[in-house]
Amino acid sequence: MPFQDYTLIQAPMAGGINTTELTVGAARAGALASIGAGYLSGAALEDAVTAARQGGAGAFAVNLFIPGEAGASEAQWRAAREALVPCYEAAGVALPEAFAELPGFDEQFEAMLEARPAFFSFTFGRLDKARRDACRARGIGLIGTATTVDEARAQAGDGVDAIVLQGEEAGGHRGSADPRGAGTSLAELLAGCRDLERPLIAAGGLMDGADMARVLGQGAAAAQLGTAFLSCPEAGTAPAWRDALAAAGPDATAVTAAVSGRYARGLANAWMDERAPATIAPYPDQHRLTSPLRKAAGVEWKSLWAGTGAHRSRALPVAELVATLLEECRAAG
Ligand SMILES: Cc1cc2nc3c(=O)[nH]c(=O)nc-3n(C[C@H](O)[C@H](O)[C@H](O)COP(=O)(O)O)c2cc1C
Repeated sequence: MPFQDYTLIQAPMAGGINTTELTVGAARAGALASIGAGYLSGAALEDAVTAARQGGAGAFAVNLFIPGEAGASEAQWRAAREALVPCYEAAGVALPEAFAELPGFDEQFEAMLEARPAFFSFTFGRLDKARRDACRARGIGLIGTATTVDEARAQAGDGVDAIVLQGEEAGGHRGSADPRGAGTSLAELLAGCRDLERPLIAAGGLMDGADMARVLGQGAAAAQLGTAFLSCPEAGTAPAWRDALAAAGPDATAVTAAVSGRYARGLANAWMDERAPATIAPYPDQHRLTSPLRKAAGVEWKSLWAGTGAHRSRALPVAELVATLLEECRAAG
């Protein structure tokens, strides 16, 4: 389906949230589903695409992280590791000597090209021309991400097919090229990008069809929802994370760079208060340093990414959630 046919995008959510069941369920119910492949090896990306196709997902987007500048220096790495000692101790988790490497972008991008999804969506920066051309040659549509009006203009200049305008309300990592880039509200982004002749995808804090209808009225062609899908039984969301979403009140979220070295929004816990490390390695090394702690610790030290609408989560099966969102949007539109 061409991009114009979608009003709802199930957001890419790397880290195991976008299970095959979620992708297939969202796609078959009429959303553009996304596979957040940012932490997957090339082989795992291929497997995820094959499984989605076998499940009957049809068209979907594969999403990757554009690599930024070099990671931490030796000294930055040592200082950031040292600053995490009390955090690991408080959680009763052993601080390892060695930390897992993340998959390389070249390998991921090649696997994505090979897999030929309908769309390649990307965050944390711009895609270079050679890679844009490689996607074009294979008929892969391009969806860039912007967190400021300037970033949106740059993506439009690159000729992408659609631009995600990610407001500061959004759950997960801020998709700015600058890891500590300032956030902009979704309403401001939409107002500032009205003259861009590209389909705009609104993202950040949208939880129901009335929210979708509102942003469509503000010039968006579609809405991308992440947090709304975290409570679907098909999502790979850990039980403690689901419980925290169900218990969340308004103002439950905050932003931190302490987890990964990049600003990200989630349910407030130890990462957002005085227990967080004061010295942080640049992205993605801080992510590597905190990963064993987040995996092994209880809810206080997990990354519970969620947007400002977290308290409005509905634990519906994905097909029902998509049908409900589209129906609510029609009714409100
Ligand atoms: C758990 C989680 C993981 C995310 N991972 C990604 C990702 O891998 N790639 C990406 O482009 N955006 C990612 N995002 C951001 C979403 O694409 C989207 O901007 C955001 O979910 C919209 O805000 P909302 O969560 O309030 O709906 C993630 C969001 C969440 C909540």
